[in-house]
Amino acid sequence: MHQPSPCFVRSIAVIAMVLSPLVAAAAASPSREALITLPASSLPLLAGSRATIDREPALRKSLAGESIHMVRIDEAALPGLAEAIHHDLQRCAGFVRHDSPDDARAWLARSERATPAAPLARPIDAQAVVRPLLGALTETRLLADIRAFSELRPTRLYTSPHGRAASDWLASHWRELAGGRNDITIETVPLTGFPQRQESVVLSIKGSEKPDEVIVIGSHLDSISSTADAPGADDDASGVASATSIIRAMVANGYRPQRTVRFIAHAAEEGGLIGSQQIARRYRSDGIEVVGMLQLDMTAYKGAPNDINLMTDYTDAAQNDFVEALVRSYLPGVSVGRDKCGYACSDHASWSNAGYPASMPFEATLRTANPNIHTPRDTVASFGGTAAHAIKFARLGMAFAAELAND
Ligand code: BES
Ligand code: ZN
Repeated sequence: MHQPSPCFVRSIAVIAMVLSPLVAAAAASPSREALITLPASSLPLLAGSRATIDREPALRKSLAGESIHMVRIDEAALPGLAEAIHHDLQRCAGFVRHDSPDDARAWLARSERATPAAPLARPIDAQAVVRPLLGALTETRLLADIRAFSELRPTRLYTSPHGRAASDWLASHWRELAGGRNDITIETVPLTGFPQRQESVVLSIKGSEKPDEVIVIGSHLDSISSTADAPGADDDASGVASATSIIRAMVANGYRPQRTVRFIAHAAEEGGLIGSQQIARRYRSDGIEVVGMLQLDMTAYKGAPNDINLMTDYTDAAQNDFVEALVRSYLPGVSVGRDKCGYACSDHASWSNAGYPASMPFEATLRTANPNIHTPRDTVASFGGTAAHAIKFARLGMAFAAELAND
């Protein structure tokens, strides 16, 4: 028998059992109301909670053809809802959290608009810069980084003090790696509306020629689980560690990009893309020019025949072609396929909806993804104790950053 999937179908009764103790706890202590958008197929999971569903017709459509609803729910019931959703094999669809009904409407309107094909001329012409950087990446270091981050126990949950400790740990780890270079800055970005909780961690290597043009390598530093134990080794210590490996190799080689290269380990992705929405929207309103964004979320488990699967929704088609061309140029023997999440499955969606070209190279297809995520079993051992798959994504992230940063 294979391991139960985190998204296996459970009866509504079981889901209601999971949800109701949390809802009951929420009823006992006054707590805040959260506004989320949720696909119609997930609405039965709200049974037994005191959530209100807004059936406004304008919101009843989505990219995948399914209706999406705005739901008001007690904030304290969200972890239970997340768990219930993740037990739904049919969709494994997440919810997105919003600040206001207007934000929710704007998010949905942007999601439905096809990304305008902006055929950017992106030649692959920085081999002399990229190849030595690729040579500085090692699978051993990458594995050690995945292990170290996933061993921050018991959890990196964004509402927990441990979630905040994970931000602090990563910020100091990245600060050490930067080794006092004055063109490298480390910043933490607190979640607005979540005082004293988790912060996104941002490391920037300032561009020597075009510092205002930014390449973003994303990942998410939070984890979530059906129990209090959330190692999140694949989801998403693997992505955070890939970013860490790229930083280490860039520093080791004394690399100075011409455009700014920025690594963002987003907070509260599992809470409904909270950290990434706040950051991407602020970039848009501040007029920051993001040349390209690549999200690394789940890279260590090889679940499908193709090594790297580019998600086609909430991403930029032209940039996806560029990413595929990078694989062909720099990763011999690595195969690329396409798949879609069918919903806003990770932080790339926040960047895409803010109008930036984003891509999401994934470890498998949606159907063949690591079945252990969001459980205490998402450990290094469960994907074979190796970074053999993850290293492909670290190499791809390196090629993406260094090619785009080269003027
Ligand atoms: N890493 C997952 C996304 C994922 C899981 C993509 C499996 C493809 C296959 C991510 O951390 C996650 O759990 N996302 C949530 C949605 C989010 C908005 C709360 C999900 O997939 O339900
Ligand atoms: Zn997840």
